Amino acid sequence: MGDQIKLSAGNADFEYPVLKGSVGPDVIDIRKLYAQTGKFTFDPGFTSTASCESALTYIDGDEGVLLHRGYPIGQLAEHSSFMEVSYLLLNGELPSKSELEKFELTISRHTMLHEQLATFYRGFRRDAHPMAIMCGVVGALSAFYHDSTDISDPEHRKISSHRLIAKMPTIAAMAFKYAVGQPFMYPDNKLSYTGNFLRMTFGVPAEEYEVVPAVEKAMDRIFILHADHEQNASTSTVRLAGSSGANPFACIAAGIACLWGPAHGGANEAALNMLREIGTPDKIPHYIERAKDKNDPFRLMGFGHRVYKNYDPRAAVMQKTVREVFDALKVDDPLFETALRLEEIALNDPYFVEKKLFPNVDFYSGIILSAIGFPTTMFTVLFALARTVGWVAQWNEMISDPGQKIGRPRQLYTGPTQRDYVPLDRR
Ligand code: ACO
Repeated sequence: MGDQIKLSAGNADFEYPVLKGSVGPDVIDIRKLYAQTGKFTFDPGFTSTASCESALTYIDGDEGVLLHRGYPIGQLAEHSSFMEVSYLLLNGELPSKSELEKFELTISRHTMLHEQLATFYRGFRRDAHPMAIMCGVVGALSAFYHDSTDISDPEHRKISSHRLIAKMPTIAAMAFKYAVGQPFMYPDNKLSYTGNFLRMTFGVPAEEYEVVPAVEKAMDRIFILHADHEQNASTSTVRLAGSSGANPFACIAAGIACLWGPAHGGANEAALNMLREIGTPDKIPHYIERAKDKNDPFRLMGFGHRVYKNYDPRAAVMQKTVREVFDALKVDDPLFETALRLEEIALNDPYFVEKKLFPNVDFYSGIILSAIGFPTTMFTVLFALARTVGWVAQWNEMISDPGQKIGRPRQLYTGPTQRDYVPLDRR
């Protein structure tokens, strides 16, 4: 018998098994707690709760480690492609050359959207936030692809997963085109996944679009860095929505809605807006003081993370990528200098040191995306595009688990106890 943990409640002792993962903290299996003690655990924000078993991604926040199926993110970002990482997340192993080619071909076969979906876009106001469009259009896919919605069939799940990964760049690019009033661009499957996305976003029918290899590589790397991040808020949302047996496209739309928030995927948009507001390095001390002031709601966007209490390993790769993109596009954005200076000042300030607040992946990504030509409103859209593979891989893992149950947390109720209804004329 493995380790047990003892809990004393009243005069009785109860023992709960301690489960061991391949790496990382052990977990206490309290599934029988309520049946045995009549008590729940209380953990708002799930700071001490493992919500599921997963073999996809491992994070050690204290050491700044992020592994996908065991491979460090730095190695994947340096040597692989987003398609390779997608295959890895979905299938558990890196693909062979022929497996990768077959996977890329399969994904490219699903890049087009049903033509009628274009009319959806026209229903949105021209100034609609592209994340609002993403939520709507991705959810609407469930009305178009009925043939892949038997979620108990692994083949159906695979087709839905491929469709989502393949169509997301098309949907994202169309959200951009709609906002700027340019014609939608059809996919060109001769191009790579990322090159195709860049062309659909920045190309126009009247002209040949040339993909800049350095930009394509940087963009692909940004997708890799955002591909999965274990049980974060949006992934947990996808799992929770999917646990009821909901349609996969609807589940991903739920994930997109959660990702939109400024404490999650919306942070890169907020981080760049903040850098623009700060403007020049001489204003940094004022904003640092504001971030430290408990009575001021201002926070340094792009700083801090629920799990990373050392450096976010993705931020280091991102900082390097800024320079590559700037060199390739010959841009010299003074905001990068402001960002570097802000990082330096914050990392030497006792407040940030004590609270272990470091730049996260979003701190530098906005500067790169802006240099490539994306407006800030598109930043979270790109995150959603990349995270889709993580969401579908996690969703698949959950549905294939025979012990899977509907997600149904409990609560500590603090409202009124039972009372009698008072008729309207006596209130
Ligand atoms: N600026 C200033 N102070 C901060 C910041 C920040 N960015 N982040 C946390 N703190 C402070 C809090 O005020 C709190 O102080 P206290 O203990 O004195 O009350 C302490 O650090 C802990 O903060 P929490 O909000 O309790 O930490 P939590 O783990 O819940 O939050 C979060 C993590 C949401 C990411 C937070 O750091 C934050 O809001 N950061 C800015 C938004 C951001 O960059 N989000 C992107 C996350 S990465 C991603 O989603 C890809």
